[in-house]
Amino acid sequence: MTPPPRAGPNPDGQILMAKRVKPAKRGRAVSKLPKGAADELQTLLDFVRYAVSRFLAAKLAFAHGTTDPVAEAAFLVCEALHLHPDQFETFATARVTAAERARILDLVERRVSTRKPAAYLVNKIYMRGLPFYVDERVIVPRSFIGELLDSHFGQDDASLIGDPASVETVLDLCTGSGCLAILAARHFPNAEVDAVDISKDALDVAARNVAEHGLEGQIELYQGDLFKPLGEKRYDLIISNPPYVDAGGMADLPAECRAEPKIAFDGGNDGLDIVKRVLKEARAHLAPQGGLLCEVGRGRIALELAVPRLPLLWLDTEDSEAEVFWIGAADL
Ligand SMILES: C[S@@+](CC[C@H](N)C(=O)[O-])C[C@H]1O[C@@H](n2cnc3c(N)ncnc32)[C@H](O)[C@@H]1O
Repeated sequence: MTPPPRAGPNPDGQILMAKRVKPAKRGRAVSKLPKGAADELQTLLDFVRYAVSRFLAAKLAFAHGTTDPVAEAAFLVCEALHLHPDQFETFATARVTAAERARILDLVERRVSTRKPAAYLVNKIYMRGLPFYVDERVIVPRSFIGELLDSHFGQDDASLIGDPASVETVLDLCTGSGCLAILAARHFPNAEVDAVDISKDALDVAARNVAEHGLEGQIELYQGDLFKPLGEKRYDLIISNPPYVDAGGMADLPAECRAEPKIAFDGGNDGLDIVKRVLKEARAHLAPQGGLLCEVGRGRIALELAVPRLPLLWLDTEDSEAEVFWIGAADL
């Protein structure tokens, strides 16, 4: 995080420093602080610092859209104040009102006491800068595929699929909240996008997100087991972030992940039960020039041992190395 701007008039001439606020009402969260201590916290930065201290002391895990306690605290502070995360720096040294203070402290307290992902507490997560609704019916989106659509499926020569405008059909298998289907629909504006999940609960959340992004005309949701609800349909591009956690990983999931649906993680003994089925069945659902983009987490070595003849192309992102592979239809 870059240093915060000094308090004072913003470029529009508005004064960012609030007047002295009334002491916060003593609510559930505030009462966790020693008497009067809540009043010592005044600016957004004060609350971020306080939240980070609480998060570190509680040994929370950060794996749901943020990867460190500072980003997590800034996200929660912004949500309590109805600010977009990008606005944090503008207001970092602004003071909060008593009501806002109570909201922030309540969120910090609930994050520590419930160990739920921050996204569930505020029913929102940002992915590639876009907001998505989430609750306990779906895993909190954090797939690397969103970034890869931008970095490897653009208009340049390095694109894995040619001009995005020429992509007419996309399938998002294991869609969860619908986040990847929505990002794909925006990335490939001329494509019809189908999205499948086995969980009715997840599809209810996906339907809400599709509607909130105004994409009902472009995205069709299907309930079922992988390709089964699709008949013999074929696609230019299949994307999938399936369950891929192995038995050891399932036993070690942090409390935050245990708040998420088990079906979103559980990939069987070696983590690859679903991935191997996707690989086996994808060819029958791909157009001749199409391809499959699939996330497998840390399953690369196990997958290469399981399918040694397949020329999987491993892709990196800013925060991941070889956790997603690409394979063209002709190589399947
Ligand atoms: C890791 S989550 C990914 C969700 C979303 N694509 C994302 O990236 O946030 C995996 C999803 O696969 C779904 N799922 C599990 N088994 C499935 C199956 N056999 N067929 C279709 N969907 C399945 C789960 O319900 C869950 O929503």
